Amino acid sequence: MTKDELKKIVAYEAVDKFVKSGQKIGLGTGSTAIWAIRRVAEHLKSGKLKNILAVTTSLETEIEAERLGIPLRSLNSNDINGHVDVAIDGADEVSSCLSLVKGGGAALFMEKLVAYNADKFVVVVDESKLVPSIGTGFPVPVEVVPVARAVVARRLKSMRADFTIRVGTGKCGPVITDNGNIIFDVLFKTPVDGPDMERLINSIPGVYENGFFSLVRPIVLVAKSDGAIEHL
Ligand code: 5RP
Repeated sequence: MTKDELKKIVAYEAVDKFVKSGQKIGLGTGSTAIWAIRRVAEHLKSGKLKNILAVTTSLETEIEAERLGIPLRSLNSNDINGHVDVAIDGADEVSSCLSLVKGGGAALFMEKLVAYNADKFVVVVDESKLVPSIGTGFPVPVEVVPVARAVVARRLKSMRADFTIRVGTGKCGPVITDNGNIIFDVLFKTPVDGPDMERLINSIPGVYENGFFSLVRPIVLVAKSDGAIEHL
């Protein structure tokens, strides 16, 4: 199966198994999560799912969900009140102890806000995302308030981390997040402890959020290359 087919089947499985009528759901961002959005829309259209309210994690997701007619609410609306029943999202890396790296699409802040306030956080990946440890493979995105970029750079260098400021397509300037910030893509010299590093990086003034997702226990669904789906 192609990678895109694997993304589709694992996202469909997440919706079919974990989303029930009447629920409040979080919709993630990226090329895997988008299939979950499409599946929810398909089930709403057929009547298989009813009375769903969704919170989106990026402008990209909001536009697609809006286009497909999924009823949307903000996390602060009275209906949602800062909590969803289930959030479904992709990941850039999943370690053997289920620490995640996310934010390849620069949506980490809202993704974390939703995931950490969900009863169930369901992560959908193909098996290429499974790694023994995190920090040295996929660069960990750190969202930084632009005025603090030198401060954060100094602190990361003192932690012996290398980083680049993410540039947009066409390389004509930095990527600007939905929150008006920039992204440092950070690599460590040796594997790191996800929970420790998640707390440490967020303690640097000027860091808006980081892409370690280690302080919540996800349910991880993995699409294997033969199309089988494993639950971790
Ligand atoms: C966006 C994310 C995505 O979930 C992550 O980058 C995985 O994306 P994809 O499913 O396209 O590989 O964290 O900020």
